Amino acid sequence: MWHQGPAAAGAESRRDAAAAAHRQSGDSADDDIARAAAAFVDDRSNAVSGFDYVGGELLAEGVPLASIADSFGTPCYVYSRALLTAAYRSYQDAFDGVPHLVCYAMKANPTLAILDLFAQLGSGFDIVSGGELARVLAAGGDPAKVVFSGVGKSDAEMEAALAARILCFNVESASELDHLAAVATRMGLRAPISFRVNPDVDPLTHPYIATGLKDSKFGVALADAHALYQRAAKMPSIAIRGIDMHIGSQITDLAPYREAASRMLALVDALVADGIALDHVDLGGGLGIRYRDEAPVTLSDYATMVRALFAGRRERLLFEPGRRLVGDAGVLLTRVRVVKPGASRSFAVVDAAMNDLLRPSLYDAWHAVDPVRPRRSDAPRHFDIVGPICESGDFLALDRELAIAEGDLLAIRTAGAYAMAMSSNYNARPRACEVLVDGSSTHLIRRRETVDELHAHETRLPS
Ligand code: LLP
Repeated sequence: MWHQGPAAAGAESRRDAAAAAHRQSGDSADDDIARAAAAFVDDRSNAVSGFDYVGGELLAEGVPLASIADSFGTPCYVYSRALLTAAYRSYQDAFDGVPHLVCYAMKANPTLAILDLFAQLGSGFDIVSGGELARVLAAGGDPAKVVFSGVGKSDAEMEAALAARILCFNVESASELDHLAAVATRMGLRAPISFRVNPDVDPLTHPYIATGLKDSKFGVALADAHALYQRAAKMPSIAIRGIDMHIGSQITDLAPYREAASRMLALVDALVADGIALDHVDLGGGLGIRYRDEAPVTLSDYATMVRALFAGRRERLLFEPGRRLVGDAGVLLTRVRVVKPGASRSFAVVDAAMNDLLRPSLYDAWHAVDPVRPRRSDAPRHFDIVGPICESGDFLALDRELAIAEGDLLAIRTAGAYAMAMSSNYNARPRACEVLVDGSSTHLIRRRETVDELHAHETRLPS
């Protein structure tokens, strides 16, 4: 389990060894699981275990995924509170002693309970819409820790964010600066701003999620930024607070960050020389995670680089991680409905589909698929794991070697980020439910949508 630290890995092997010992002593799998649940709780102070096999079946913390499927049905997103908490704490630990604020990029997973958890941990939030602002407030988030990114903020969204007294607007164009200044003037307020600069660095990621190249729609060109700061400094309804970048997502290399941050800091120095001092520097999000065989940047390497770049500086650091805080902490639990032999390989038609998890169809993204109760005696075959939606692009995983039969449960891994968040009602499919596991307890944090709710906002033609 790559996302666990050494202590956690140790705990995992201890638990596996304990489970094996119980098996040898003739205990039932249920006993194993009960002990695993107890061990999980005992271990919680120094070990983080998310989704592990114990007694021949996959658990979420101390709860068998099979029992979650029985209680709540499938498809169902399952999250581990321990993994979410550990991911947040790893940022806090990595930047211990450095003035900083983590602003969770909530677009990755905006479910209220997830926001509530991060708010309780002290997190701020990176938002990109009025809807996201409303969610942060509904979840008990602190508006004074909110930064507002996005290339097309409406006047109404600006008003709502100004009224809530957010920390900062990440302004992405000259036009937005003018609109924001006008809205703030109308409200008799000063709008706190950063410019999101586009450092023109290739983040070496999927083109749909690269945002810091010069042809990208995001941010203002680095070359134009100085003049924009000078203009903003003269606007009575604008208060300059910082500078911001976000170069892309699922980045697995430190070099683009180093390059982009250095370019941005050169501008910050030029601004200071010009009498424009900044309170904070926002390095955005984008740190990748391991879906398959990627080698993600460790937080300690990232922190070492950032600490070196910022040694002796006075600005507070802001981060906008999304995927890194939630990606590993979720699985999509789905049941095999139909096994259908095809010409070259077989199809396993499951009850989740591209409307539940769009990443494979949209980005060719790879998610590991694990059986909840592996069939150790059956020979594995090659399967495409597909949904029931009427599109050939409706697949969750292609060409996987698995031993599966109809009725089996599968866990689609690393589904905490941009998964439920990007789900839709395509094919009139109600969206999945979401369950948060905390040790041996489960919380239904979003119930499954009903079919009636799908037409609740519509009307037939007038008669
Ligand atoms: N800040 C800004 C301004 C962003 O636009 C994003 C993500 C983040 C922070 C967080 O990036 P992260 O740390 O999660 O990489 N749907 C795609 C990812 C889109 C990312 C959009 N922006 C996916 O499923 O891979």
